[in-house]
Amino acid sequence: MVRTTTGIKGLDPLIEGGFERGSLILISGGAGTGKTIFALQFLYYGIIEEKENGLYITFEESEDDLIRDAKVFGWNLEQLQHEKKLFIRYYSPFEIEKLFDELEKIILDNDIKRIVIDSASGFGLYLKSDYDVRRKIHELSKIIKYLGCTGLIISEIVGQSQSSEIMLEGVSRFGVEEFTCDGVIILHYAGLGGAFDRSLQILKMRRTNHARGIFPMRITKNGIEIGQKSI
Ligand SMILES: Nc1ncnc2c1ncn2[C@@H]1O[C@H](COP(=O)(O)OP(=O)(O)OP(=O)(O)O)[C@@H](O)[C@H]1O
Ligand SMILES: [Mg+2]
Repeated sequence: MVRTTTGIKGLDPLIEGGFERGSLILISGGAGTGKTIFALQFLYYGIIEEKENGLYITFEESEDDLIRDAKVFGWNLEQLQHEKKLFIRYYSPFEIEKLFDELEKIILDNDIKRIVIDSASGFGLYLKSDYDVRRKIHELSKIIKYLGCTGLIISEIVGQSQSSEIMLEGVSRFGVEEFTCDGVIILHYAGLGGAFDRSLQILKMRRTNHARGIFPMRITKNGIEIGQKSI
C-alpha cells in the first residue's frame, strides 16, 4: 500500500502516515469549520513537497475566491496554475455529466495525482435521489482508484451543534457519502479553548489503524495544524 502525506500538520501520524493512494476521503463539517482550507492545503503541499499535480473541482466558490482564500496562508495558487501544477475547474451543479465526461481526460492530460471536490452538495442539487448521489460518488471513487489518484470530497454537516460531541450519524449532507468513501474526517468548531479552538475527528479510514477520539485543531497563518493528544 502506498500512502500519500496529507500536508496537514500533525495528521499523518494519526493515520499511519497518510491517505492510501487510490482512496477517496470525505471531509465533513459545519459552515466555516475549515473544509476548504484543508483541501487547499492538501493540494498545495502535494505540489510543493511531493511534486503531485492537483485538481480542485468547485461547485461552490469561484476560482478567484479560492485564490484569495489561499493567499491568506501564503499559498500562491496563480503561480502553480501558471506552472501547470494546479488546475481549478468550476462547474455549475447542472454540469455534473460534463464533469464526469471530462474528468478522466483532465487527470491524464495534466498528470493529476490529487483531486478535491468542493462539495458533494453540488451533486445533490442536480441529482434526484440519494441513490443517484451515492452512485455518482461511487463512480468518482472508481475513477480516482483506477487512475492512481488520491481524492477529497467535501460535504456539510447540516445543523451541527457548536460542541465537539461525537457524531456517529448525520455526518454528511445526504447521509450516503460516508458509506461510499474510504475515509471520513469530521471538522468541529470547538476544541477545549486555548490555542486550539477547533477539533478534528477521524471516523473511518479503511485499511488503517487510525487514532480514535477528538483531536485539537487550529488554523494559523500557515494553515491547519492538528494537536497529537486527543481531547
Ligand atoms: N488566517 C486565518 N487564521 C485563522 N483562521 C482563519 C484564517 N483564515 C480563515 N480562518 C477561519 O477559517 C474559516 C473558513 O474556512 P473554510 O473556508 O475552509 O471553511 P469551510 O468549512 O470551507 O466553510 P464553508 O462551509 O463556508 O464552505 C473562517 O471562518 C475562519 O474561522
Ligand atoms: Mg468551503
